Amino acid sequence: MNLATDKVVPLVMALSVALLALTACNGNGNAVATAPAPRKQVLSMPAQVGQLAFFDKNLSSGKNMSCASCHDPQYAYGPPNSISVQLGSDLKQTGARAVPSLRYKESTPAFSEDAPNPDGVTSNSPGGGFMADGRAATLATQAGMPLLNPLEMNNSSKEAVVKAVQNGAYAGLFKQTFGANVFDNTDAAFDALGTAIQALETEDLSFHPYSSKYDLYVFNKIGGVLTPAERRGEVLFHSTGVTNCSGCHYTGANFNGNSGLMTDFTYQALGAPRNDRSIPNNPDPIPANDDPAYFDMGLCGPFRTDYMPAPGKAHPYCGMFKVPVLRNAATRGAFFHNGVLHSLEQVVNFYNTRDTNPEYWYPSHGDGTGKPQANPVWALQPTAVPGATIDKYNDLPPVQQGNVDEEVPMGTGEGGEKTLASGTKPRAPGSTPVMTPQQIADLVCFLGTLSDGYQPSSAPSASGRCVK
Ligand code: HEC
Ligand code: HEC
Repeated sequence: MNLATDKVVPLVMALSVALLALTACNGNGNAVATAPAPRKQVLSMPAQVGQLAFFDKNLSSGKNMSCASCHDPQYAYGPPNSISVQLGSDLKQTGARAVPSLRYKESTPAFSEDAPNPDGVTSNSPGGGFMADGRAATLATQAGMPLLNPLEMNNSSKEAVVKAVQNGAYAGLFKQTFGANVFDNTDAAFDALGTAIQALETEDLSFHPYSSKYDLYVFNKIGGVLTPAERRGEVLFHSTGVTNCSGCHYTGANFNGNSGLMTDFTYQALGAPRNDRSIPNNPDPIPANDDPAYFDMGLCGPFRTDYMPAPGKAHPYCGMFKVPVLRNAATRGAFFHNGVLHSLEQVVNFYNTRDTNPEYWYPSHGDGTGKPQANPVWALQPTAVPGATIDKYNDLPPVQQGNVDEEVPMGTGEGGEKTLASGTKPRAPGSTPVMTPQQIADLVCFLGTLSDGYQPSSAPSASGRCVK
């Protein structure tokens, strides 16, 4: 018998009674449920401006797109669809990266190439900053970027943005907040808009609700909240020898004391497959990838320009992207910086078999020997020809491919010539993957507990496969 679950029941009953009490009658005698008053939150004046701006479609060239179009509050401030990269305000061009969730960003430290690791053990390395390559120093400067990006909100100038605010419904509040003459100076007004959006993202509890099942489990120490499958997944997530997930998706306290964000804010190269037409039946290849000379190399550019490699020379940062917050990952439909993967099951299988079965993930060339064999359903490449040459790490120029991480969970302790920094060895093609299908399923169940808005009253919500 589970004592913790027993304690939850009276609470659920009490809540139902409270809800009944709130049920009023309308004139027709039908019961009208009045929602319990949400936790009231008083936003500062800049944050109130930021809230109006965040949802303001007039801030895009086509007056058809706000920040919330891509960062939808109903989807944890992530995209409302599973498309790899979203269409911009011109309704023609798409971006080149997947839209991240904006939740839990306020804890991101400033970018540094010599950032300390929150685990207090790992040596300093590039870390922090906003965007997948850390090129935005603050949330305020970040906000200016989509506004002026031709592939996103597509405004021609800061002046166009400021004009839209000045002619908009909250111009008065803007002046009250930032000074009666704020519109006299375009740069100052544009910066004030960024300050306002940053205030919203920092203050508004809906950007960091900490309302997942995992929170209930970790902070309230309610032992019975996680199902056996979720609990096994949690243990696996922390296992250094098998998955090492928490080695990068760090769950301890960050520098500002917040914990359980599932990132150490460092940069790592995982060798994500190129999201292009080499993937059969790819629903949404990234248009920029049609150019074989184009590579999105994260810290090495093209969007940030301070670590660009010299022509033909390797740079140790090429291919590195920021370790993302994994909270609410289960509500997403596109994963990794280029949105190339479309389910959590696929992501975990990628970690597990990138090195043992690269033919599942990367295209190949050459004739091979024998007839094509079917790959598992979650693989990006539906078939593989034995003996063909696999274009591994095909989203990085060959000279940069040495940066790709081969440690656990990709690497294990066996075989091969090479020894990694950890003393282990990479896993050879054809060897056995480190995780079993059951372990993968358990990990996916655990990741599901990281979604905000968990309602104990609607439990048991864990779908069938996550119960036992
Ligand atoms: C057309 C879709 C789109 C719109 C509209 C959009 N964004 Fe984004 N946003 C993105 C993409 C794509 C990224 C990732 C870019 C990268 O990593 O280079 C991103 C990244 C971010 C980040 C960085 C998150 C992190 O992980 O560091 C923040 C913050 C953000 N957006 C806020 C905003 C705000 C504020 C607005 C409105 C002013 C906005 N976005 C409008 C697509 C969009
Ligand atoms: C070496 C560091 C490292 C390890 C170990 C690691 N990850 Fe990641 N993870 C990353 C980085 C970096 C990304 C982003 C990659 C990109 O954008 O190309 C990522 C992305 C993800 C994503 C996609 C999130 C999103 O919003 O797109 C998921 C899910 C994920 N990891 C889960 C896991 C799990 C589960 C494990 C353990 C089996 C794990 N990771 C181990 C560094 C790591």
